[in-house]
Amino acid sequence: MDINLKGKVAIVTGGRQGIGHCITQTFLEAGASVLTCARDGAGLSAQIEHWRASHGDRIAGIQADVGQAEDIDRLLAEVRNRFGGVDVLVNNAATSESGTLASLSDDQWHREFDVKLMAMIRTARAAVPLMLARGGGSIININAIFARQPDMTFYASSVVRAGCLAFTKLLAREHAAQGVRANAIGLGLVETPAWEKWHDPAQGSYEAFLKSSAEFYRVPMGRVGRMQEVGNVALFLASDAASYVTGTQLDVDGGMAAYL
Ligand SMILES: NC(=O)c1ccc[n+]([C@@H]2O[C@H](COP(=O)([O-])OP(=O)(O)OC[C@H]3O[C@@H](n4cnc5c(N)ncnc54)[C@H](OP(=O)(O)O)[C@@H]3O)[C@@H](O)[C@H]2O)c1
Repeated sequence: MDINLKGKVAIVTGGRQGIGHCITQTFLEAGASVLTCARDGAGLSAQIEHWRASHGDRIAGIQADVGQAEDIDRLLAEVRNRFGGVDVLVNNAATSESGTLASLSDDQWHREFDVKLMAMIRTARAAVPLMLARGGGSIININAIFARQPDMTFYASSVVRAGCLAFTKLLAREHAAQGVRANAIGLGLVETPAWEKWHDPAQGSYEAFLKSSAEFYRVPMGRVGRMQEVGNVALFLASDAASYVTGTQLDVDGGMAAYL
């Protein structure tokens, strides 16, 4: 089967680096037009220029913080003005707050909710009417296996990711009959630039750090994931090949989730 996104318009949040960058690249190669965003406007512009050389006007990006309602309004206005609507929405951009009950402040909890759950709610609220006007669409919420298997080392994230999964399910049920599908991708550990800041060179090489992380979290495959392994699943969920898949979380975790 030829899986492609020819003629489709996608929003992928957080395309400057990491998984969002990989999904943007994968969608461009599959024929989609993509609007992305990031907080670092200069860094994003440099990346957009790079993509323009191969993909021309099919790629665009704006500086936007998905934790801010007015920035999401700008993002959706941009996709309407530039591409005339949207068929695929990938909610990927996020940062995580570390800490536990005693140390996490109200501000940190609010940031977790804003950049993860509220960003999904706000983008979907604006994108669904545009998708309905085009006869359907696909919403992909990048989530984590901690939504179903809360972990002390991702305390706030586990709580918020459970809400993201519940929201994905409701969104799917609400719009299934109208052709809008909504699914989550449950990530385990995936190597991205975000990991570099957690590595302490005094403790050994980066490769040894990745290996020991996979051991610490008991990943059955014995390694962390690669970004393209997420990009491939996002492409499947975005495409017509997943036409009967909605309301589910597809885990990309090397077997890490222990739940049934
Ligand atoms: N990597 C993993 O092991 C893992 C595991 C579970 C879940 N996840 C989830 O996967 C997603 C991607 O993670 P990643 O590892 O690829 O992270 P990353 O390497 O830090 O990349 C994050 C991307 O999102 C952008 N971004 C971050 N916060 C943003 C905001 N508030 N508004 C707009 N753009 C924002 C960043 O650009 P700027 O800095 O310029 O804004 C960057 O382009 C996140 O939702 C993360 O929680 C990752």
